[in-house]
Amino acid sequence: MLKTTPIQGEFGVRIEGLDLDRPLDPNVVKELIDTLHEHRLIVLKGQSPDKEQYMAFGPHFGRLNEHMIRKSRMKGYPAMIELSNVMANGEKPSRAAVYWHTDMCWEREPSSVTMLYAIEAPESGGETLIADMVQAYDDLPLETKNRIEGLKAIHYYGMGVATRKEDIGPKPLKPQIEKDEDVGAEHLLARPHSVTGRIALYSPAGTSRGIVGMDQDEATALLNELSDHAIQPKYIYEHKWSVGDIVMYDTSLTMHTGTPIDAATGPKDTRRLYRISVKGKPPIYA
Ligand SMILES: [Fe+2]
Repeated sequence: MLKTTPIQGEFGVRIEGLDLDRPLDPNVVKELIDTLHEHRLIVLKGQSPDKEQYMAFGPHFGRLNEHMIRKSRMKGYPAMIELSNVMANGEKPSRAAVYWHTDMCWEREPSSVTMLYAIEAPESGGETLIADMVQAYDDLPLETKNRIEGLKAIHYYGMGVATRKEDIGPKPLKPQIEKDEDVGAEHLLARPHSVTGRIALYSPAGTSRGIVGMDQDEATALLNELSDHAIQPKYIYEHKWSVGDIVMYDTSLTMHTGTPIDAATGPKDTRRLYRISVKGKPPIYA
């Protein structure tokens, strides 16, 4: 049995005493997966796997998902992305994740789990915010639940129609720029989890552009109404990074956003995270 500590009621658990430097017992893997599906968010403390060990951990939760934007992929580890504020020549760090979104939901098979591993952590700043879309859905008035049942949002890469003025995520792709497979996708707004069937409000913010079969003004208004509801502080967990943290979230059941961080000047303000994202069901449930 894993030793777990709740974070915010049912949303999120902290787990200590797990060592990802070593292969995990299949029973522990199953417990981790079930815990993630139930609590949406897991924070592992004090981890130190190397890249191979971390890459071996990811596929317990699904099939490795390489990012559509090829230049984002880590050399030698195409399924991994390094998120870093260590910049050369006065460049500014990427703020492509500073908007509420769900990873890769512009794809027909979006990410199902994303994990972030802190290699370096700043003394302050660069927090990651994660919002609980199960509770957000549960709290919707019955009238709204009925209204959105069966509705599908349309997603493409880049910021859509339900973003806030402070968001600074990626702009929609122009066809001639890095367009590997920007085909877009449609996903239910009230979307059942692929393993548990539990319904969550699925990514009304971020990349949503409209709703299938709905007038654009009406769709924009509805997506904004749902997004405003979903990112209320009561649904949000803010993670302040320490070296060795691995934060995992079930992307079907959450939304997340980065917060802006300036270019690093030294170890005290450097943030370097390794991201792995997977899609589909965990092999034990596939
Ligand atoms: Fe993300």
